[in-house]
Order: sequence, then C-alpha cells, then structure tokens
Amino acid sequence: MNLIVGVSAGIAIYKVVDLVRKFIKRGDSVKVVMTNHATKFISPELFKEISQNEVMTDIFENEETAAHIKIVDWCDAMIIAPATANIIGKIACGIADDSLSTVAIALNRPLIIAPAMNTHMYLNPAMQNNLKILESRGIKIIEPDSGELACGTSGIGRLPEPDEIILNADEFLKNFRKNSELDGKKIIVTAGGTREPIDPVRFIGNHSSGKMGHAIANALSNRGAEVVLITSSDLEVSKNIRVIKIETAEQMRQKILSEFENSSAVIMSAAVADYRVKNFSEQKIKKFDDNLTLELVKNPDILFELGQLKKNQILIGFAAETQDFERNAREKLIRKNLDMIVANDVTAEGAGFGVDTNIVTLITKDNLKRYPIMKKSEVAELIADYASKTLGTLK
Ligand code: C5P
Repeated sequence: MNLIVGVSAGIAIYKVVDLVRKFIKRGDSVKVVMTNHATKFISPELFKEISQNEVMTDIFENEETAAHIKIVDWCDAMIIAPATANIIGKIACGIADDSLSTVAIALNRPLIIAPAMNTHMYLNPAMQNNLKILESRGIKIIEPDSGELACGTSGIGRLPEPDEIILNADEFLKNFRKNSELDGKKIIVTAGGTREPIDPVRFIGNHSSGKMGHAIANALSNRGAEVVLITSSDLEVSKNIRVIKIETAEQMRQKILSEFENSSAVIMSAAVADYRVKNFSEQKIKKFDDNLTLELVKNPDILFELGQLKKNQILIGFAAETQDFERNAREKLIRKNLDMIVANDVTAEGAGFGVDTNIVTLITKDNLKRYPIMKKSEVAELIADYASKTLGTLK
C-alpha cells in the first residue's frame, strides 16, 4: 500500500519513527509530510532515511509544482500521527496553510487521524467538536490511550503504540479493498426525519437526527459504492457522496423513485412520517379556539412500494419500535418484502434518536442476530458487510 504519513509537532513524534519503520518493513511504501514545527523535534533527514523517500516539509520550497496533488494521487491512504489540536482544527475548518494541512485538504482517499496531546487540550470542547466533525466526514479517529503524558501529568491523550495504530489502521482500511463487492454499485440511503408542513411556519416532525443514515452512507462510500444520500439532515458526510436534501415524505418518495431503477440497493434509515396534514394552510394558523383539529392523511409507504417494484435489488429497512420490537420488525420484513430489517428499541438507553450509539438486532428471513451497544459507525459497517455479502451473491 502507498501511505502518506503526516507528522505534526507532538512529543509522541518519536513513536512515529518506529511506525514508519514498521510500515516499510512489511512492504508498504511511505512518504512523510511534516509540519514546520515537527521538523524542530525531528530532522526530516531521519524520516527520509527510513522511508527511502523525499520528505515534504515546506510546500513553497518544494521544487515540484503541485506536489500536494501528486502525492495525493500516489497514495492509497493517509495517516496523521501524532495529530495535534492545531492540525485537527485546521482540517476540520478546511484551512490549508502548510504542507500537511494542504495535503490533507487535497486528499480524496481514506484518512486516519491519531490525536495525541495533553488531557486538557484533548478534552477541550472545540477539540472534541472538531473530532466529531471529522468523524462525520468518514475520517477514522484512533482514540488516544490514557496514562502518563510527556507534560508530566496523567490522563487521556497518549499516542497508542505503533502496533496498535497499525492494527486500527488495517481494520479500517480493509473496508477499502479494491474490487470490493460494492465497488461502483449505486446505493440509495435515506436519513433523518421528514417534516410535514402544517402552515408556512410549522411542521410535524420527529426526533430522528440522521446520524445513523449518514454513517451508513459514509461506510458504503468508503467501500467504493456510488452513494446517493436522500436526507433531511444537515450533518456532513464524505465528499464522494451525492446528497439530495428533502423535507417531506412525498419529496423523498419522488427522489427515490427517480434514482431506483439503476440502483443495486436501498437502505431506508429515514424516519418517514406516516401521516401528513390534509389541508396545508397557506397562511399562518391563528389561535382562536381552545382546541384545534388537524386532519391527517396517510403518506405512501415508500419501502412497501419499493418492495413491490424491486427486481435484482436489495432492500434494507429500519424498525424503530417502543415495544415488542423484534416481532414487529419481523412482520415488517415480510410485509414490505425486505431482505433485512434493522430493529431497535428506541426507548433503550444508548439506542435510537440523536445519540452516537445504537443497540440493534439484524433480522433476515432466516436469521436473527442481536448486537450489544455499538457506535453508529460500527452498526453502519455491519450493514455495509451485509450489503456487500448479499450483492456479491446476486451477481
Ligand atoms: O412501518 P414502519 O414505518 O414502522 O417501517 C419503518 C421502515 O419503513 C423504515 O425503514 C422507514 O424508512 C420506512 N418507511 C417508508 N415509508 C413510510 C414509513 C416508513 O419507507 N411512509
């Protein structure tokens, strides 16, 4: 594999010498990109010797034109270790003012970031927010270890040992295998809650944040699928994903139907409103009486419709339930002609709307598997595994 190792100025930089050595030893090619501050800790000459490649330091001193684009085109993936608060903040904001940040912004391959810094810096809300932003874009964050820190204190913020970084990186990058079953396959993912307007200022909505669907879109896109994300959510996703914003169930239906025919799969994680207001009021409804009655009419069940239309496609639905969730989910699987349903009890702690974790049961016609509490990004990988395996057998 061709790897860019980005090095910023954390004291843990000494571990990265060994990290690069280990990559080279097992046959990877490595090109190192350093920030100016990092060169104050370790000479680029050392990384040049170990990697047997030129080290990129100052983009403006580099003789080659567009060196940042050439290196990005060369690589299969990039890993930044140690990643300081500064480089993490710059990537989150899209700032490109030195070699490392410029290469990171130009990158269109998988990016892995291993933060390392003092505990207070790591726990700073801006820093944590930046990590969330990066994660939402499909970037892998390797969580720092806890223990003694170079600054003499103790807490979270230590760069994990090189072997652990390699283990984490390999686990993440295995999903980027070339020629994966999902390579080039068009997959529609829906996310977020629909909004059914009552009048120009009000709507009927629900608590769905879109986090689960956006994580699925990232996981599939990372594996090479051509993802169309139809969503009501403003959350960010990987830049390779085609995003279509919608508000109502009917808009979602129209967009799905226009994309469905040449797609290989649809994953409906959106919380679609079952009913809409019958008579939308062109003017804001005034308050007169003590009671107000809104007449609601049923929305089309999009997934049911797709179940009738599907040919050689797979359909995955979600069942967010508050009671008897496995039985209800299985009933939906059959009635809507789905290949798999992801069932969860939205009343359980750590599951359902808004949170970063979920507790799911994956149900197919002849299988049921319960999983413990997991990050939504991990649940997304399970769903991508299933899509990959099933599309492989449909060929
Ligand atoms: O029947 P229920 O709404 O519980 O089913 C949930 C599944 O059906 C979800 O995957 C949801 O996205 C989808 N759905 C739909 N159209 C609707 C309601 C739900 O496609 N009108």
